[in-house]
Amino acid sequence: MNQGRFPATRMRRLRAAPWSREMVAETRLSPADLIWPLFIREGEGVEEPIATMPGVFRHSIDRLPGLAKEAEALGIPCLALFPFTPAHLRTPGGEEALNPDNLVCRALRAIKASGANVGLLTDIALDPYTSHGHDGLLHDDGRILNDETNAVLVQQALNQARAGADIVAPSDMMDGRVAAIRAGLEGEGFTNVQIMAYAAKYASGFYGPFRDAVGAGGYLKGDKKTYQMDPRNSREACREVALDIAEGADSVMVKPGLPYLDIVAAVAQRFDVPVFAYCVSGEYAMLEAAAAAGMLDRERVVLETLAAFKRAGASGILTYHAPLAAQLLAAR
Ligand code: PBG
Repeated sequence: MNQGRFPATRMRRLRAAPWSREMVAETRLSPADLIWPLFIREGEGVEEPIATMPGVFRHSIDRLPGLAKEAEALGIPCLALFPFTPAHLRTPGGEEALNPDNLVCRALRAIKASGANVGLLTDIALDPYTSHGHDGLLHDDGRILNDETNAVLVQQALNQARAGADIVAPSDMMDGRVAAIRAGLEGEGFTNVQIMAYAAKYASGFYGPFRDAVGAGGYLKGDKKTYQMDPRNSREACREVALDIAEGADSVMVKPGLPYLDIVAAVAQRFDVPVFAYCVSGEYAMLEAAAAAGMLDRERVVLETLAAFKRAGASGILTYHAPLAAQLLAAR
């Protein structure tokens, strides 16, 4: 008669013991859920701290095979590679993106040659290579050119696929770029190279530390609001995702992460493709700053944050905390 009401129902019964909490957990976080972004720079044996991302470094290429082996040992399935391009290689047209011997291509080849069993994801966008810091080609009148940029992005994707990229991830937010890149990959026989589309990427202040990390911060004129999404919108995110899937994306991404969990949840419920969330540099920096100030328990909030993405329906998370989280999960 009282079924469903107190005392027949006591919600605390299932929470009373660790084994029970484990048994009824609705989601589980594992190292296989993590993608580890790495920053790369020129040099030998270099591990350069990034001021705005304490605990994150720019690595020279010779260090990458070791890090890839570390990821494999921790059960992290995939690395994302981001180059720090020296100023003299930045041009208005971002031509360095197409250089078969650019940092990213050399990094891809070095990791592949090491035999480490990890997937390699590379960003498609011109901002690491442009002198104006934009993701696309900048016209004299201040517009970012869409179709002209797409033609370059296709060549950038092919350049990275030839060097061994397993997943290309267009992060530029040009219209139609997924279809163009897919056609380019098929045309050269890269039938198994995945496209993870940064489908719902917002014009966010949370990318600040990343722009320092890749050295784009000082160059960027204006903002990216004519191509990245308005933070006030969510229906538009679903349109972006639907288009990228129709154009040939294998998986989609929502970015930033925690402030956009509602978007992650909406996309995961509505679309039958893997949905990834990027817990971005500013989110990392916030948490690290609070932990360093003794305001938060770093390990606890890292795992809590990542579990929240799983609860929202994410298939995986790009996070700078990937190695720490994997270690904590292994120790549990
Ligand atoms: C490049 C790119 C950005 C990020 C990933 N790829 C920055 C931007 O769009 O300005 C941000 C990642 C982060 O903040 O951690 N297009």
